[in-house]
Amino acid sequence: MPTPLPIRLGVNIDHVATVRNARGGRHPDPVKAAAIAIAAGADGITAHLREDRRHIVDDDITRLKERITKPLNLEMAATAEMVGIAKKLRPHAACIVPERRTERTTEGGLDAVGQRNALRAAVGELASCGIRVSLFIAAEPGQIEAARAIGAPAIEIHTGAWCNALAAQNEAAAAAEFDQIVRGAALAKGIDLEVHAGHGLDFATAEAIAALPQIVELNIGHFLIGEAIFDGLGAAVRDMRAAIDRGRVKASAGSAR
Ligand code: PXP
Repeated sequence: MPTPLPIRLGVNIDHVATVRNARGGRHPDPVKAAAIAIAAGADGITAHLREDRRHIVDDDITRLKERITKPLNLEMAATAEMVGIAKKLRPHAACIVPERRTERTTEGGLDAVGQRNALRAAVGELASCGIRVSLFIAAEPGQIEAARAIGAPAIEIHTGAWCNALAAQNEAAAAAEFDQIVRGAALAKGIDLEVHAGHGLDFATAEAIAALPQIVELNIGHFLIGEAIFDGLGAAVRDMRAAIDRGRVKASAGSAR
């Protein structure tokens, strides 16, 4: 088996802003969190500018772009407003996600099949500004093939359903979800898509996903910010880095499923 590609850790700092916004004001500052995460080994910073601005706000994105020393990955809906903001601020990358006001988090993947035309337009506009675009999708063959047809260079596989099945101790569902992720990662890499993954990951699940050699980027937020309450953000990021590096060793050893 060829040596797997290095794997990047993107730290999502949305929930630092959630805590800040609970009281208003400036503390805790997600830009400070981003600097701490980078110092602790994050390869990039991810932030989701939602339509309702429930956590990250426009000024956070502006300051992140100006101040962080690693790539910024902007999670965004494929709306005219968000495409306009991305074209103005030029993050390194944009991950297009579905968005519903009533959801607590990004609950499912994009419908890249049904939304093909709108997504193709958004991907084209962002790519023409030099922004690397990924589509956040379930690891279903139809969605993966649609992402390729739309012209996205990368996908991010939604790992939330797998993590939820594990948390519910539903072993059969978890095994089926993991199998779909394994097959989806192989299919996507086989048609020249860069493969990322994220949502709901903790140390153990991130280690398991990092063992899949096709996956080159993980984006992780909620668990890390939660761990930061107990151990500090630097320690949480270092422990996550160690977990995904352990997973990568398994990929190198050819023990990934
Ligand atoms: N990737 C994408 C595209 C997301 O929308 C999110 C949640 O904002 C994440 C990764 C991170 O998920 P979590 O906060 O559960 O780690």
